[in-house]
Amino acid sequence: MHELFERRASTRSLDPATEVTGAQLRDILDAARWAPTWGGVEPVRFIAGRRGDGVFERLAETLRRGNTWAKQAGALVLVCTEVREENRPDRYSDVDAGLATAQLILQSVAYGLVAHPMAGFYPDQAQAEFAVPADYRPMVMVAIGAPAAPGAGDPEVAARDAAPRSRLPLDEVAFGSRFGVPAQLD
Ligand SMILES: Cc1cc2nc3c(=O)[nH]c(=O)nc-3n(C[C@H](O)[C@H](O)[C@H](O)COP(=O)(O)O)c2cc1C
Repeated sequence: MHELFERRASTRSLDPATEVTGAQLRDILDAARWAPTWGGVEPVRFIAGRRGDGVFERLAETLRRGNTWAKQAGALVLVCTEVREENRPDRYSDVDAGLATAQLILQSVAYGLVAHPMAGFYPDQAQAEFAVPADYRPMVMVAIGAPAAPGAGDPEVAARDAAPRSRLPLDEVAFGSRFGVPAQLD
């Protein structure tokens, strides 16, 4: 794999003293903006705040308690996607949101930052707080920040980060001649 993918992890221990600069956040949002989009529709919108700018704090207010760690981030980005009446674009607007989020995350990793997606926030609260129109849905919040130094920060959060990461083996997810039959790769 490319090292960008190898370096990415949903780390929770973040260093509150490191800022995400405006220029970094601009590039991160630009990377997200350039993600593939079904039919050229571009249904994805972002609400972005950096620590101390007031927007960050309002975004942080919408986090569920289990994501309190994310208040140590340098930036928060709420990814919203358009809800359409016709079924097909609606379905693909979720795919677009996922692709934009992935690009946002990997551009953050390219800057040596952590970017951690979260479903654990109150979408209705975010919708009202930021006047998100009814035809857009807040999908995922991404915490962006610098990883905390080893031994720094909340030990309980650090313990969660230390848990082993794993994935299903490739032959259980990548199929060839039919579903369930591993892809032939050599
Ligand atoms: C849609 C989505 C929502 C997630 N929501 C949360 C969340 O609310 N809180 C959290 O700590 N992690 C959240 N995660 C991160 C996952 O827990 C994490 O990706 C998974 O444990 C795999 O770990 P890794 O990203 O380090 O490979 C979310 C991930 C995705 C894709």
